[in-house]
Amino acid sequence: MFEAVLERWDGDHVVVRHHPGGAWIFVGIHSTRLGPAAGGTRLKQYESAAAGLEDCLRLARGMTRKLAVLGLPHGGGKAVIAVTEIPAGDERRRLFEWYADLLNSLGGSFITGPDVNTGEADMDVIGERSRHVFCTSLARGGSGDPSIHTAYGVFHGIRASLRHAFGSEDLGGRSVLVQGTGSVGAKLVQLLAEAGATVLATDIDEERARATGASVVPAAAALTTECDVYAPCALGATLNADSIPGLRCRVVAGAANNQLATEADGERLRAAGILYAPDYVINGGGALHGIGLEQLGWSPDELEAQVEAIGETLAQIYASADAHAISTEAAAERLAAERLAALDSRPTEAQRTVTRA
Ligand code: PHE
Repeated sequence: MFEAVLERWDGDHVVVRHHPGGAWIFVGIHSTRLGPAAGGTRLKQYESAAAGLEDCLRLARGMTRKLAVLGLPHGGGKAVIAVTEIPAGDERRRLFEWYADLLNSLGGSFITGPDVNTGEADMDVIGERSRHVFCTSLARGGSGDPSIHTAYGVFHGIRASLRHAFGSEDLGGRSVLVQGTGSVGAKLVQLLAEAGATVLATDIDEERARATGASVVPAAAALTTECDVYAPCALGATLNADSIPGLRCRVVAGAANNQLATEADGERLRAAGILYAPDYVINGGGALHGIGLEQLGWSPDELEAQVEAIGETLAQIYASADAHAISTEAAAERLAAERLAALDSRPTEAQRTVTRA
């Protein structure tokens, strides 16, 4: 039910539209305190429209935290296009044209980028009619597909996690299970293999997992296979009260958003002695790519340094979690709250002008 989902939300605005073709569109603008809300547009089939709304709102809240932790000048938002069938061809183009008009009607309070099931071609269609989009193709003047930088960020995050858990970030001799070998997961497999890790891969589409060259683990065994690092890079809150007791890894560090089913699962992982890399911190590479390159004028080198720094941010979160005897999820939330408070208390341009006068 929409009611229950909305009652629990602490964000600014929710835009709800129904497309004549049958899709429900939700835009969750969680916060604009630090700037216009930014976040991807997810295209997905859900069990119900309310499930799509719930996903949207949780993801939007995560974006506020992600952008605050990354120090980027944006609030958090997210859009979900909940469909019964993933559209293709002309139908898809028309849906994204319509969606671009919807973005325009929001006047720039939400700027979007790619997410699950959306990519450069869709961003280009939006970009034909709207300025409120990141990651259009290079040919169209955008920064292109950000997934390699998401994968790099996760790679550096895994190394920082190994350093904390084992005292060394060396991947040689370490085993990493990558669950979900889509655009980010497949690139992560490559980076890990090049660094000398033993990589196991799993995907609901086994062929896709096999194509990465990693040893394939059946999808059903993803959560119970022994490994040093479990890297969730697929959909769904795989960490929950049922799955956590069965995990046989020391570290959970992957690219997926919303990895924890509930907030209590962060504490559950801590109690199980598993180091968890908060999802919205470790997967920040895509946002750094779009916003850094297109808005902040970063050079490729600068972007790379910022993506690498995700590892240092995680190390800081791990140290804080240890010092306060709290979960890493709670420590990340504290860091996000601190950053928001610090940025929030800076004088605004209007206040500065008054002070000067
Ligand atoms: N999927 C990206 C994320 O979750 C979306 C994004 C890309 C947001 C580029 C902003 C800019 O971070």
